[in-house]
Order: sequence, then C-alpha cells, then structure tokens
Amino acid sequence: MPILEILKPGITTQSSEETVSIAKSLVSELPENSILTLEGDLGTGKTTFVKGLALGFGIHDRITSPTFNIFNCYMKNAKSTTLLHLDAYRLEGNSGIIDELMLEDFMKPPFILAIEWPKLLGPIPWKPTLELTFSIMSQGTHLIRAI
Ligand SMILES: Nc1ncnc2c1ncn2[C@@H]1O[C@H](COP(=O)(O)OP(=O)(O)OP(=O)(O)O)[C@@H](O)[C@H]1O
Ligand SMILES: [Mg+2]
Repeated sequence: MPILEILKPGITTQSSEETVSIAKSLVSELPENSILTLEGDLGTGKTTFVKGLALGFGIHDRITSPTFNIFNCYMKNAKSTTLLHLDAYRLEGNSGIIDELMLEDFMKPPFILAIEWPKLLGPIPWKPTLELTFSIMSQGTHLIRAI
C-alpha cells in the first residue's frame, strides 16, 4: 500500500529507525516541488522524518535541527532535487518573516521543502502538498498522520 494512503489513518512507528524508513519510502510518491508541513510537539519525530526524506533522495549529509540557521539546504547533486529544511521554532512572534527568508531563491525545481513548526510562520504563501502531524503515543511509539 502506498505510504500516502497509510498516512491518512495514521501510522505508528516503534522506533526512530522506523520513522526514518517510512519517510524514505514516501519520497518516491511525492510529486516534484512538494511542500510538507510537519506539526507536532518537541521531540515527536519531525527532524527524524526529515532524515528519512534525505535518505530517500540519496542525500547522506547529516540532518540536524536548523536551529541557528532557520533553514538548511541540501542537494542531491547539482542537477537534482534540493531538500530544504525549515524549522520555524525560533521564529515565534515573527510571523511574516517568511518573506524575509528569501526561501524562493532556494526553491529551484525540483525541490522539496519540509517545514517544522509551520504555524509559527503565520500564513505560508504556498499550499502544502502534504500536512503531517506527529505525536507520541507512549515511549518509543510515535504516531504520524496526514491531515
Ligand atoms: N518511533 C519514533 N519515531 C521517531 N522518533 C522516535 C521514535 N521513538 C523514539 N524517538 C526519539 O524521539 C526523538 C525525536 O526527535 P526529533 O528531533 O526528531 O523531534 P522533533 O519533532 O524534530 O523535535 P523539535 O520540535 O524539538 O525539533 C529522537 O530522540 C528519537 O530517537
Ligand atoms: Mg526538529
């Protein structure tokens, strides 16, 4: 069954490796230039999911929380997909700042943009392709659901 279908009712993962593997498998199902919003509290697995996306694209850079950079840009190779990872956590109270980030300059097709804490950005000028919510069911068991 496609991951996109599995994500609708929600999927529970038992480990970070499983979350990585779901995200990795999802990549082949995403249209070009996808925008993913990743919602959920601290430590629910958003960055872990982005690690899986990177692996799905064949990007082996270390994916970290772009806490100080606000966003990170990874490239598979000069011609192929760019993975943009934006973490809005530190932008709280600065909604409207999205225009100042000049993200569009990096959104050169084909790209995929993954946004953690999207609500803190205020209105996003693009319609997300996929909106995911992350939560913790019990220790080690996390739920990922498409909304
Ligand atoms: N099933 C699981 N899926 C994902 N992560 C899990 C799972 N079980 C345990 N973990 C752990 O939960 C943590 C998730 O951290 P991660 O940085 O991905 O969260 P986050 O949602 O990005 O948090 P933040 O909002 O602080 O950026 C990791 O330490 C990971 O090892
Ligand atoms: Mg994170």
